[in-house]
Amino acid sequence: MQDRAGFAEFVRSLPKAELHVHIEGTLEPDLMLALAERNHQPLPYPDVSAARAAYRFADLQSFLDLYYRGANVLQTEQDFYDLTWAYVTRAAQENIRHIEPFFDPQTHVQRGVPFGLVIAGILHALEDAHEDFGITSKLIMCFLRDLSVEDAEHTLATAHLYQSRIAGVGLDSAEIGNPPEKFEKVFDQAGAYGLHRVAHAGEEGPASYITGALDVLNVERIDHGVRCLDDPVLVQRLVDERIPLTVCPLSNVKLRVFESLASHPLRRMMDAGLLVTVNSDDPAYFGGYLSDNYLAVAEALDLSPLDMVTLARNSFEASFADEKRKATCLAEIDAFLATR
Ligand code: ADE
Ligand code: ZN
Repeated sequence: MQDRAGFAEFVRSLPKAELHVHIEGTLEPDLMLALAERNHQPLPYPDVSAARAAYRFADLQSFLDLYYRGANVLQTEQDFYDLTWAYVTRAAQENIRHIEPFFDPQTHVQRGVPFGLVIAGILHALEDAHEDFGITSKLIMCFLRDLSVEDAEHTLATAHLYQSRIAGVGLDSAEIGNPPEKFEKVFDQAGAYGLHRVAHAGEEGPASYITGALDVLNVERIDHGVRCLDDPVLVQRLVDERIPLTVCPLSNVKLRVFESLASHPLRRMMDAGLLVTVNSDDPAYFGGYLSDNYLAVAEALDLSPLDMVTLARNSFEASFADEKRKATCLAEIDAFLATR
């Protein structure tokens, strides 16, 4: 790869999957302001640059406060369609071939926005993404771990009515003080419904939350998981069982999980043999979409084009796409490399 521009073009054209992106976290300030006006929802930002200037976070909670406030502008089915469509349009431009977006229904239902409206808008855009761009998707519903178990149970019961449209459940929001064990019953029920299970664990919380998510929630994939390196026995287990970790480098720096990208453990995780993927988390808030994350870690950690290909292959392997779709996407990588 001769130069920087060539490397960037390589990464953007490389077929990839994105497995850790919160659809509400793709709400760009310009759309946020437009929806605020359309829905007569007051926002504390007079313009786009004021919104961006406010995006400085001390930790996960300081981000969540602002992120939930931003989500308040989402009111109608069309709003959820527009939000999702804006994301998939960008995804198509950077050759993302498969996506597994999260959504947080409780954030909307608790403000009186019906579950059915939220999911209809998101799914309609995902269907159009398949038709227009050939992007496949699996939608994952997250429970907010700082709300009650009863609220999560109620949310799962509602989701069950849309069973065939939701591929899995996840667990997000404020991690510390809300260990995975709190949600044992609701994850058991989700498993009984045949849903995939994932959980944010080991982002701000300790490595023991990763172990808990595996042992108690029976998750198939860990979101973030960067704190696993504190526990060598856990690392060996993750390697042996090929449990994927959806790592979000720019997010980790923005939320001060690590001081800088140079100190990010992604390369150490790859070297340890972990099945790591790179993802954007909340790209509208953290300053970069998927390719930006690949490029940022490549630069900071001196990763090669071959490392980029490994990460892209991992993203398909770690996905919930069926085997045929995985094989097609992996073959797309091979075909892409053959042209280089
Ligand atoms: N919700 C949106 N982004 C999140 C993150 N990085 N951690 C936990 N919950 C989230
Ligand atoms: Zn996340």
